[in-house]
Amino acid sequence: MQVAIDGPASAGKSTVAKIIAQKLDFIYIDTGAMYRACTVIARSHHLDYGDEAGILKAIDQDGIELKAVNGEQKVFAGTKDISREIRTPEISANVSQVSALAGVRAKMVILQRQMAGKVNVIMDGRDIGTTVLPDAEVKIFLVATPRSRAERRMLDLQERGIKSNKTVDEIEQDIADRDYKDSHREISPLKKASDAIEIDTTTMSIDQVVAAILAKIKKSQKKL
Ligand code: DC
Repeated sequence: MQVAIDGPASAGKSTVAKIIAQKLDFIYIDTGAMYRACTVIARSHHLDYGDEAGILKAIDQDGIELKAVNGEQKVFAGTKDISREIRTPEISANVSQVSALAGVRAKMVILQRQMAGKVNVIMDGRDIGTTVLPDAEVKIFLVATPRSRAERRMLDLQERGIKSNKTVDEIEQDIADRDYKDSHREISPLKKASDAIEIDTTTMSIDQVVAAILAKIKKSQKKL
């Protein structure tokens, strides 16, 4: 079974996807982490974030891997663990530019489909239901107000111990800028698939969102 979870930044996609994957023993694939890894690789090779050919070559040289280490999903560029670096404000500010590059998207989509293979998978991102897994049995589109997403992002950064001097207003603006770029790019923009179920998580707890998605999955499993 394939479950696709899409939506704008900080709508809670990865939090709920991880919990559901654990409960159902599905493989969880965080595609945003893969585009973030491409951005870290561009940076470490001192490339311009628009240098498509250079970035593609650097990705081939380093290689991107998602690995479970002690039950936690880690992101590697070659042998280097970049799980923390991918979440830094510098990377968040530039990932939309790198993820808009056609060649980078083509490469990541191939990798994502290979990773999904024939296992039960829950994948989150922006174009999973529309492009990566168009035949997914369950498609969810998670949304929340920009303010609540900014508050969640701030908490998330604090919990990860990542320093940021930004106010909630500034984070809200950053998120709005990124959403605009992600939904207005030419290739596979952030868009709700026509057969996706939209869930507004603004006033919902994590448990409530998990329960709502689990119910959709159970319903779909009965049909199989
Ligand atoms: O989910 P996230 O915030 O970690 O994603 C980081 C960026 O990667 C996001 O701003 C857009 C891009 N992205 C994408 O273009 N397609 C995906 N499937 C996932 C993420």
